[in-house]
Amino acid sequence: MANPPIVNGPDGFYEPRHQLLEDLINKENCTRILAEEFFDGDEDMVEDNYQNIDEDEYKDLFFKRLGGRNRYQRPYHFVVYGASGYTGSLVLEYIFQNVQGLGTDVTFAIAGRNPDKLRARIEEVKQRIPNDYEPGIIKANIDSAVDIRELCISARCVINIAGPFMLTNAAMLVEGCIEYDCDYVDVNGEVPFTHKLVPYHRWAKDTEVIIVPNAAGAGGLPDVGAFWTAQQLKKANDGAEVQKMHMYLYGSPGGAPSGGTLATRAAMTKNIAEVGAIMGNPFALGGSIENGKRPEDSDKNLNSIEHLPEYGGWTGPFTYAFFETRLIRRSNWLLAEMGAPGGAYGRRLSYLEHLLFPSEEAAKAIAGSATSSKKEEEKLKKENKLYKLGEGLDYDRRKAMWAEYYFSAETVDGAKIRTVVKAGDGYEETARMSVEMALLCSTRREKLPFQGGVLTPSVAGGDLLVDALAASGIKFETVAEDFKPDLTRITSLNNEE
Ligand SMILES: NC(=O)c1ccc[n+]([C@@H]2O[C@H](COP(=O)([O-])OP(=O)(O)OC[C@H]3O[C@@H](n4cnc5c(N)ncnc54)[C@H](OP(=O)(O)O)[C@@H]3O)[C@@H](O)[C@H]2O)c1
Repeated sequence: MANPPIVNGPDGFYEPRHQLLEDLINKENCTRILAEEFFDGDEDMVEDNYQNIDEDEYKDLFFKRLGGRNRYQRPYHFVVYGASGYTGSLVLEYIFQNVQGLGTDVTFAIAGRNPDKLRARIEEVKQRIPNDYEPGIIKANIDSAVDIRELCISARCVINIAGPFMLTNAAMLVEGCIEYDCDYVDVNGEVPFTHKLVPYHRWAKDTEVIIVPNAAGAGGLPDVGAFWTAQQLKKANDGAEVQKMHMYLYGSPGGAPSGGTLATRAAMTKNIAEVGAIMGNPFALGGSIENGKRPEDSDKNLNSIEHLPEYGGWTGPFTYAFFETRLIRRSNWLLAEMGAPGGAYGRRLSYLEHLLFPSEEAAKAIAGSATSSKKEEEKLKKENKLYKLGEGLDYDRRKAMWAEYYFSAETVDGAKIRTVVKAGDGYEETARMSVEMALLCSTRREKLPFQGGVLTPSVAGGDLLVDALAASGIKFETVAEDFKPDLTRITSLNNEE
């Protein structure tokens, strides 16, 4: 069909309406449908006149054909897309274990391109965590605009865990969500994909649809930790602006990336020529200060291995710092942009992250394998943890994992705070964060601080998300300014292995 109608979105965006019509032609008889709806059944009129049908008329047509205009009358509170994989199993596990009132107060479905794999995931998880609730199963191809819209109008919120995100059509799913009034939560840990969603912010804000990428262990958890830390510091200092914040992650060894995470890293590496400049921009997701050229914001700072007397240990580079710093800088900007009561954390905030080690030796050893994917793979192979797609750390190993995120923050006047967020395995935290965010969007939406926009987890969920995470087991604590973690824990765990 020539000259497709253009969707309402910002200039230069994909034209889902065109795709939608193309798909409808395959699915039903598009000309007949348009003739019945707009031209008194005269099919000859369609070819010459369909371009006069406006956006709202199309929208009405699809709501009429597919149903679901009112989000509160949709069958599911949320749908988990891409649930057949490893993270899918943990999301199901988290829901079966933690969500109260399944089937009465909360309904959900799982979706993906292969219903048999989805069914197999439910069975596998139910063997571990028995539950009477039968989630709906929706077959949906993320490349099909019709499938996507059917997905969006079946629920109040979609959780997308199908990755690598940069290799899927997830941006079209986001467009479908914005058009069809369905909130969106995902677990992506990819700067390039998140960057692709940034221009949707105004559209989502105007349409009042909440889009929350990065609601996961990597990304979302430190983002919420930084939010909570800034709040505590500001509260104690009459709202003084935060000048500096530094996160040091101290965690158990023995973790391993899932097959899906390895595939995601490989996708970014393979496409580095295309996405390298975005990934290397400290303000890739917005919020730049002094054109992003301040020395304290440079990525060079993230590579340092340095003695850190105030923690009694050593810093080393953290792979996810090159993602999380961007996200937290975006949160800082968003709070001001959205008109949050306390404004940004600090208009001149400098935010950095490192891993924390007991010794220089340990920092160098682990940092070496963390910054080279080849070395990391060799190490994983040796430990029998080089997982395929759909696989990851098993239940017992996951349950033994722990992570402590220490935040040191300082106001413009030199007032300081030290906090710690204590959590478990990153994949388990991903399940928790994404499900809790989706529950807020689908059951307590009116209480959320903002009703639309491309937001970070902390900005989207605010205090409600902190409370939900705390109620389900994450610890948020303020510690003494000179508090030192017990850095011998890593050595003893290593010895046990
Ligand atoms: N930020 C974080 O902390 C964090 C934590 C966990 C996971 N993640 C990310 O989440 C993603 C999933 O990880 P995982 O370990 O669960 O991977 P996985 O086990 O390989 O599962 C991937 C899932 O995505 C689906 N999928 C992949 N490509 C698709 C496509 N083109 N169309 C439709 N469905 C598609 C797969 O469906 P099929 O079964 O049909 O193949 C499967 O359900 C990865 O990108 C990973 O990096 C991020």
